[in-house]
Amino acid sequence: MEEKLILILKDYQQKITSASTLKGLDSLFLALFGKNGEITQATKEFPKLAKEELRVVAPLLARVKAGLEEAVTKRREEIREGGYQKLTGEKLDLGSAELPKDKGHLHVITTFEEKTVSLFQNLGFQRYDAPHIDSDDFNFGLLNIPEDHPARDLWDTLYLDSEKFGIEPGKLLLRTHTSNSQVRIMREHKIPFRMMVLGRCFRYENLDARHEHTFEQFEIVYVDKGLSMANLQYLSEHLLKGIFGEEMKVRMTPGYYPFVEPGAGVDGLCIFCKGKGCKVCGGVGWLELAGAGMIHPTVLKNGGIDPKIYSGIAWGFGPFRMLMLKYGINDIRTFLSGNLKELLKYEEEK
Ligand code: PHE
Repeated sequence: MEEKLILILKDYQQKITSASTLKGLDSLFLALFGKNGEITQATKEFPKLAKEELRVVAPLLARVKAGLEEAVTKRREEIREGGYQKLTGEKLDLGSAELPKDKGHLHVITTFEEKTVSLFQNLGFQRYDAPHIDSDDFNFGLLNIPEDHPARDLWDTLYLDSEKFGIEPGKLLLRTHTSNSQVRIMREHKIPFRMMVLGRCFRYENLDARHEHTFEQFEIVYVDKGLSMANLQYLSEHLLKGIFGEEMKVRMTPGYYPFVEPGAGVDGLCIFCKGKGCKVCGGVGWLELAGAGMIHPTVLKNGGIDPKIYSGIAWGFGPFRMLMLKYGINDIRTFLSGNLKELLKYEEEK
C-alpha cells in the first residue's frame, strides 16, 4: 500500500505539472479524488489493512492527498496566470483597422460653427445663449423697432398662439434673429464685454430654395469705450478671411437695421468670379454676407449703458447662407433635410 501511494504521488505530480489546460487539470483531479478516483479507492481499502500498516499508511495518505491537492491548485493558478499574460501580451490595435472612408462625418454646419466660434474665442469673445421663445420686447421693442413700425416687415415672425397658451396676443414669439440677445447681454455684463451668440432662429417664410423657416445665426455684441466702424471692418475681415482664406477682400456698404446707426452690409468679394461680376453676385462682383453696425444709442440706453461714454458693435450673419456660397449648395433646405446622400458631400475641414 505504501508503495502504491508513492507511485500515485509521483505519477500524478508529473501529470499535473505537465497539464496545460484547466479542463485537463479537472480530469486529473477527478481521476484522483472522484468517486472512483485513485485516492478515494485507496481510502476504501483501509478497513482491510492491519493496524500496524494503517499507522504508517494513514498519515502517508494524508500527506499524499494534501500534496496532490496543493499541486493541482498551484498548476491551476499557473495556467490562469499564463492565459492572462498571453492576453495582455497580445496587441489588439483597433486603430489600425481600415475603416471605409465614406462612413460619415460631422454635419458641415457643426464643423463650420465650431470653427467660427474658435475664431472669435481667439479674440476674447465669450459664448452667450438667448432663448428661442422670447418676448416681443427683446426681439423687437427694445431694439428700437416699435410696434407697428414698418421695419418689422424685415422679419416675418411666428407668434405663439395666444389662446392656446393663455397669453396676450403678439407678446411671445419665436426669435427671428440672435439680436434678441443684445439688450440681455448689456443688462447682464459689465463693460467692456465681447460676446458671441450662436443659435437657431425662426421665420414665417414661404419655403423655397432660398428660404427656410428654421436656420442659424451667429452674432457678435461688443461694447467698450471708443469703438468705431474700423473695429467692425477688422472683425469682418477676421471672419471672412478665416472662412474663405487670406485672399478674401471685405467691404462695407450702407445698410438699414433699426438697432444700429450707422448700419452696414458686410460684403465679401464674390468667391466665384473674384470681383469680375457673374450670375451668383448679379454682376456686382461682391456678395452681401453679414449685417452689422454701431449699436444704436437708444438700444444702448435700453441696456442701461450711457451712449455718451460707450459705443458698441453688433454684427451678425447666417451660417447656412455662408456655406451655400462656400460649397455652391443651391438649396437652403439641404441643411436640415436629413438627406444624407446630399449632406455627406459637404465636409468642412476642421
Ligand atoms: N439681426 C439682423 C438680421 O437678422 C442682422 C444684424 C445683426 C444686423 C447685428 C446688424 C447687427 O437680419
